[in-house]
Amino acid sequence: MTTYNIAILAGDGIGPEVMKEAVKIMALVDKRNENINFELNTALFGATAYFATGKSFPEETKTVCDNADTILKGTIGLSHEDSKKIPLDEQPERGALLPLRRRYNTYANFRPIYLPKSLSHFSPLKGSIIGDGIDIMLIRELVGGLYFGHKETGVDKNGKRFVKEVLEYDEDQIRQIIKVAFEVSMKRKKIMHNIHKSNVLESSMLWNEIVEEEKQNYPEVEVINILVDAAATYLCLKPTMFDVMVMENMFGDILSDQGGGILGSLGLMPSACKGSEKSYYEPSHGSAPDIAGQGIANPYSMIGSVALMLEMSFGMEKEAKNIWIAMQRVFENGFSTLDLSKQGEANLVSTAEFGDLVCAELVKLPL
Ligand code: IPM
Ligand code: MN
Repeated sequence: MTTYNIAILAGDGIGPEVMKEAVKIMALVDKRNENINFELNTALFGATAYFATGKSFPEETKTVCDNADTILKGTIGLSHEDSKKIPLDEQPERGALLPLRRRYNTYANFRPIYLPKSLSHFSPLKGSIIGDGIDIMLIRELVGGLYFGHKETGVDKNGKRFVKEVLEYDEDQIRQIIKVAFEVSMKRKKIMHNIHKSNVLESSMLWNEIVEEEKQNYPEVEVINILVDAAATYLCLKPTMFDVMVMENMFGDILSDQGGGILGSLGLMPSACKGSEKSYYEPSHGSAPDIAGQGIANPYSMIGSVALMLEMSFGMEKEAKNIWIAMQRVFENGFSTLDLSKQGEANLVSTAEFGDLVCAELVKLPL
């Protein structure tokens, strides 16, 4: 029997309610597999942690995460207005999320833009563009670039306010994410789109140099270099041309949200954040404070993050695949939640009922 110690950080807004469904799925997977045992340790994170302890990533939570094999995180953040109640440094994004990424050096962020036929009605794209479905693995560098660079604000000698933010990468940082993208490409269609902006940015020039160097180690992979602005257009016009996409932090932040647009909602995009030693998993969407506590948020992205965790951290590929199939079947059977569908468009169920339906489909699938 293998015991996996998992830190559970439910977070803010809809975090706790979607996490409850993820935990339900994990309990079922645990029950169905005699050789594994999930030990879950919950801890406070985000604004909820700040209001309870004065820190958005408290020491106790750090200890729980340090001792865990892997971390499952819900959502964090408050409305724009409520954020002002928390000092800048302790706001959930700056005070909890970025420090979590930095602490475990989770440099590789996987955001699947996965739209099988059963979900295609959620997409705003025409059927002729979706074709047989969209299946892109967007890989975003997650601990470097502008988001983590030196920042400075002040007043210059002319009395004008200024701001300076540094975009910095060293070659090792670039190489480690590029290698991950090549490895993933090898397991998929062996086509990798390298997203860059080398007509303007020196950082992209170094990035592309490393891609060229690493390409020698993966001769089977076809590399297609594409400017980030052009990639944004093609993602809408011809998403099926992409398989693996790799890019630096800010490009990935923006294009992955565009991926959410393609799917019809970020609620349909789970994610994995892989570190050198520890990884964590989270939905790509925010905490949606406007609908929190109403039981109308779809747990797909949170449950999908469990599937990614089973596959990537525990090697439980079959169980992970079953979760994807089970979730698709629930949609195929006509069920949805109010955040994704309007009255009359689907058989509307609550967050908890959606989780129950996924469980009911999951038990039908052989291990
Ligand atoms: C994301 C989020 C975060 C980011 C924010 C909340 C700091 O938008 O995970 O994409 O920009 O990385
Ligand atoms: Mn984002």
